Amino acid sequence: MDELRTKYIEAIAAAADEATLEELRVQAVGKKGEVSLKMRELGKMTPEERQVAGPALNALKNEINSALAAKKVALSDAALDARLATEWLDVTLPSRNHRVGTIHPISQVTEEVTAIFADMGFAVAEGPQIETDWYNFDALNIPGHHPARAEMDTFYTHRAEGDERRPHVLRTHTSPVQIRTMEKDGAPIRIICPGRVYRADYDQTHTPMFHQVEGLALGKDISMANLKWVLEEFFSAFFGTDVKTRFRASHFPFTEPSAEVDIQCSWEGGTVKVGEGDDWLEVLGSGMVHPNVLKAGGIDPDEYQGFAFGMGIDRLAMLKYGIPDLRAFFDSDLRWLRHYGFASLDQPTLHSGLNR
Ligand code: DAH
Repeated sequence: MDELRTKYIEAIAAAADEATLEELRVQAVGKKGEVSLKMRELGKMTPEERQVAGPALNALKNEINSALAAKKVALSDAALDARLATEWLDVTLPSRNHRVGTIHPISQVTEEVTAIFADMGFAVAEGPQIETDWYNFDALNIPGHHPARAEMDTFYTHRAEGDERRPHVLRTHTSPVQIRTMEKDGAPIRIICPGRVYRADYDQTHTPMFHQVEGLALGKDISMANLKWVLEEFFSAFFGTDVKTRFRASHFPFTEPSAEVDIQCSWEGGTVKVGEGDDWLEVLGSGMVHPNVLKAGGIDPDEYQGFAFGMGIDRLAMLKYGIPDLRAFFDSDLRWLRHYGFASLDQPTLHSGLNR
């Protein structure tokens, strides 16, 4: 019995895996195991012998069984430790660097413009980029023979052969949204319409697609004075410094009187600075909405009047953020976008420093 004990206790201690352990269990205490066979011999013994050998064999069997159980636990603990060691993960390591997209300067400036005008009570209106020539021209007091049509380098859509209807156009300005809003909402009106416009033109300061923002305010007693205040308020908030404006008499078919508006600037070392110096930079067209335009929009010009303006968003972005070439805006060059783009969490609001 001592031999059996030594043999199995040592073998169990040395077992490297559960399969070996199971073999040892069968060999020792299985149905035909060595200890079990010994127990069968008890029957042949005298009662006295049996009284000594019986408990001793039982004790041996128990000892082997508990050695097996203990070893089994030890083996599975070791297996778990080994697995934990290989699957170990340092959650304190810094995360991998993901490239984050940026907000395009045009989107950023559109948001800024919208925030400033919203603060002055202007809502945002929108219209389609493919327009009928009525909304783009006629309703704006630009009849078919008017030179402004030719000057605008309009893109026309295609009509099937034999279809005599006038082709649609890619809107050449945001002004058609004035008419659509008058038709939809009636007066009074206080809106801006930012959006894409199209003209067949391409050089350092022109791209075939660019952005404008239109403004329209209609009421019973809205005047040029209101226009001047709104624009000065806008430019000062946008450029973050007091900006003087200069109104020059001009002509647009859709306004009477009309004015081109310049903002105060300086040219020092080849760069423009807005809001200082005594040079002027032309930034927009404006005027009092022409009675014909009000009529086209279904509004009685004897009852309502107001101002309108239109300016280039891309131009504003170039001025404010020192971007030299307009064409780069639309090249989708990732290096350019990373350089001039804005963080997505850095959206403009009046309380985040956009205001003066
Ligand atoms: N639509 C004109 C353009 O694209 C800009 C403009 C001028 C808009 C005067 C206006 C305005 O609303 O009153 O050149």
